[in-house]
Amino acid sequence: MNQLKQAPLDVVIMAAGKGTRMKSKLPKVLHRLAGRALLQHVVDRAGDLAARRVVVITGHGAAEVEAALKKSRDESSGFDLEFVRQEPQLGTGHAVQQTVPVLPDDGVVVILSGDVPLTQADTLRDLITACNGSHLALLTIDFADPTGYGRIVRSSTGGVQAIVEHKDATPAQHAIQEVYSGIMAVPSKLLKPWLARLDNKNAQGEFYLTDVVKFAVADGVLVVAHKIKDPLQVAGINSPVQLAELERAHQLRRADALMVQGVRLADPARFDVRGELSCGQDVEIDVNCIFEGEVVLGEGVKIGANCIIAHARIDAGAVIHPFTHIDGGSSNAKDQIVVGAGALVGPFARLRPGAKLGEQVHIGNFVEVKNSTLANGAKANHLAYVGDSVLGERVNFGAGSITANYDGANKHKTVIERDVHIGSNCVLIAPVTIGAGGTVGGGSTITKDTAPGVLTVARTKQVSLSNWARPAKKQ
Ligand code: UD1
Ligand code: CA
Repeated sequence: MNQLKQAPLDVVIMAAGKGTRMKSKLPKVLHRLAGRALLQHVVDRAGDLAARRVVVITGHGAAEVEAALKKSRDESSGFDLEFVRQEPQLGTGHAVQQTVPVLPDDGVVVILSGDVPLTQADTLRDLITACNGSHLALLTIDFADPTGYGRIVRSSTGGVQAIVEHKDATPAQHAIQEVYSGIMAVPSKLLKPWLARLDNKNAQGEFYLTDVVKFAVADGVLVVAHKIKDPLQVAGINSPVQLAELERAHQLRRADALMVQGVRLADPARFDVRGELSCGQDVEIDVNCIFEGEVVLGEGVKIGANCIIAHARIDAGAVIHPFTHIDGGSSNAKDQIVVGAGALVGPFARLRPGAKLGEQVHIGNFVEVKNSTLANGAKANHLAYVGDSVLGERVNFGAGSITANYDGANKHKTVIERDVHIGSNCVLIAPVTIGAGGTVGGGSTITKDTAPGVLTVARTKQVSLSNWARPAKKQ
């Protein structure tokens, strides 16, 4: 509305801490929640807020953290991403001091932690509104057990006076249940002089960012506490137990949101989305399914138990039977898997990048399809491999048959025109084309193109020998 709409937003993300309790070689902020690095979740929020600049403070595992973020960078957009290093790590105040040279003076700064992944963009927008371009706004929450957190100390009239860290708090202050979430919004031009005034005269010998509250009060700047009720939004990750708990809590929320839309989940506690899942009406999902990347399920799609589905579009009425693995590898149009309307896939089927199945296609148990297009009504029901192929309408691809698409150096294409019947246990050595309406006899190894409508058999003739005796065991 006012000033705030004009004040550019800069985001600072603290991510230099060690994460000792993860007991991992991987820097803490690169551990994954819902399939994405913790820090990536936080950076994504900065994107949602249309930040001008995002400054990530790195220290422990700095090179690895920076490389991971740069790698995922091209998909995200908008803001300008910078890293500053904090070495050694002398506290949260010391961390933010490192950003002073790269923070413009005309912005509002939102300070986030790389290990607090689930803060919602709307919450941060409200915090920025509370800052109003001129105040110090703190995100706070009441905890029944505030142990370990910085306490929000208020005056008798209710104004925020200070944040006192747990280790520095008096017994009376320990009883305060309102805690600082670690997230604040403040104009840069106020923050910078306060950072310069920090000291480390406290129980932990650290430079506390939270001491800026004292300076704000001393300078007559209004300190506003924006208190929220949702603990997941401020939950930090320090240990594998906390990571697993937050993952499950987050997944339950996603499950609830889908069920509210009408999706029927057999058990919301056995359901994982590690990307974006969108569902049409009357979708049913059985237990233990995992969805990765972008997955779209059309109306009435049924997913059996224990399926993993990644980067795929499954159209209306298709049924994916249990234990099926569908993985497009990436969401680009070439790789994305498409399962046509009314298709049946599985149990125990594997669809790999570039599998495009038309309507009513059937893919049965132990069938693998890679980089191939199967037109409407094509079937491969048992034990088969279809790779780098184009199958026409109603092709029936027999049990145990494969396309030999790889000659040891290059991949070649197989074309099977409409209404072809490939018998069982055939090897189609690519490049090869089977003409429309043709039949390939079981057990054939096909090396040459076949004409439309013909029966092709390529195997040795059957012989029966009547004057043959089975060898007898020597005495
Ligand atoms: C901090 C707050 C506390 C608040 C809590 C909420 C301070 C002094 N205290 O405490 O009031 O209740 O968060 O979770 O700020 N980091 C660095 N460099 C450092 C130290 C930390 O980058 O030198 C990063 C960490 O990687 C982490 C974040 O800052 O992402 C918070 O640090 P942490 O040590 O977890 O702070 P808390 O003790 O939890
Ligand atoms: Ca912490």
